[in-house]
Amino acid sequence: MSAASVGSRGRRTAGAQLADFAGKVKRIHEATTRRYEKLDEAFEQIIGAGCEVLEMPIGLIGQVSNDVFTIVAARPSQDPARPGLNYPLAETLSSEAFRAATTVACTDVASRPEFHDRPSHRDRGRRAFLATPIWVEGQLYGTLTFTSTERRSKPFDQQEIDLIEMLARSLGDKISANVIERRLVAAKLEAEAARDAKEMFLANMGHELRTPLNAIIGFSEIIKDQVLGADLDRYRTYAADINECGRHLLTLINDILDMSKIHLGKYDLQRAPFDLKRLVGECLQVMTTRAEASFIDLSEEVPEGLPPVDADRRAIRQVLLNLLSNGIKFSEPGDRVRIVASRSGDRLRIGVQDTGNGIAAADLARIGHPFEQADSGLSRRHEGAGLGLALCRGLIELHGSRMRIESQVGNGTSVAFDLPLAGGNHAR
Ligand SMILES: Nc1ncnc2c1ncn2[C@@H]1O[C@H](COP(=O)(O)OP(=O)(O)OP(=O)(O)O)[C@@H](O)[C@H]1O
Ligand SMILES: [Mg+2]
Repeated sequence: MSAASVGSRGRRTAGAQLADFAGKVKRIHEATTRRYEKLDEAFEQIIGAGCEVLEMPIGLIGQVSNDVFTIVAARPSQDPARPGLNYPLAETLSSEAFRAATTVACTDVASRPEFHDRPSHRDRGRRAFLATPIWVEGQLYGTLTFTSTERRSKPFDQQEIDLIEMLARSLGDKISANVIERRLVAAKLEAEAARDAKEMFLANMGHELRTPLNAIIGFSEIIKDQVLGADLDRYRTYAADINECGRHLLTLINDILDMSKIHLGKYDLQRAPFDLKRLVGECLQVMTTRAEASFIDLSEEVPEGLPPVDADRRAIRQVLLNLLSNGIKFSEPGDRVRIVASRSGDRLRIGVQDTGNGIAAADLARIGHPFEQADSGLSRRHEGAGLGLALCRGLIELHGSRMRIESQVGNGTSVAFDLPLAGGNHAR
């Protein structure tokens, strides 16, 4: 063979290699610079480009969290490594690449005993692999991994590794952009929900404030202008109505202030031991007139001789009054509302139960958040700002407990929570 012909063959080989490399760069460039509507599409194209560049048939993206490797995308679709499957990180061929945060490649797993017992080699016959880390927002996310069931006849060269690492960087950027976009969407939805809640609050509150204020203005004008002449008894009735409206407004405003204090973490609980049965008696007394006016039977089943509970008496009074008020308000004549309590170890379980209208399952989830009412239309049947249960929930949670609501339409509602007994280690 003449020197001239060797030279031209060499040039042709170098030229073919260069053309091959240029083709691979073009493929990577295409896959990384395209605009994708969906992240899944980007995954598919990026894995596809990597498989072509490395000439390996299997590619996957794995996310690692708490030492668990979860496949988020994979090809080919008939491969056993499917999206959603997860494995202990240590059992995967990507483990070293993730742990060392660097590209790890092996042309023949059969010649590397440390990989022999990995299930993807042992059970699924993987022979060659290349795994490179993926970074998302400065944190290790997982790996971009390519494998084949054939050993690889030529070593992975630095250019191939550079291209795959470029692919993994672009993949990380795309995942980051998606995370940021999802965060923005969530923040937008949250802001919209807050705006809706605020608007609902203003509409409800306008109604709740206007009704007693109009009554106060109307009745006081009658008194001021002595419209009824010298009928002192009528004036006295109106003065009593004004007084009641004023108290109602004060309660409403106190509820709003308490709610906002709870939200700001500024509600200071004044915990001290007190007798629950006595408090329950007081609350029933406050609500008697209202219950009688609605023909509701009000009662309590709190055992005698319970140890005192360790809680904020004013807050628990507010909780019980709100729950009783709901029980009475959302019941029909002849229904029953009762407060029950029973001891459970170091705690006292307290429940307010009614046999009233109940709450539909679909409404149960949102109820207990400020301004949420099952019937929130302006034409609703009952007065109320929708703060009572949210306040109860907030106050109960401040005590380290949880408010549990069970309800069935037509069968009534039960709201329960528990409180610690003072001392905490009384005999059972
Ligand atoms: N015992 C109950 N039976 C049936 N529905 C109830 C009961 N308790 C609460 N609800 C439903 O939950 C909603 C929220 O209750 P919440 O006490 O927070 O508000 P409200 O009673 O409407 O107003 P507020 O308590 O501020 O005067 C009520 O509007 C009602 O739809
Ligand atoms: Mg209420």
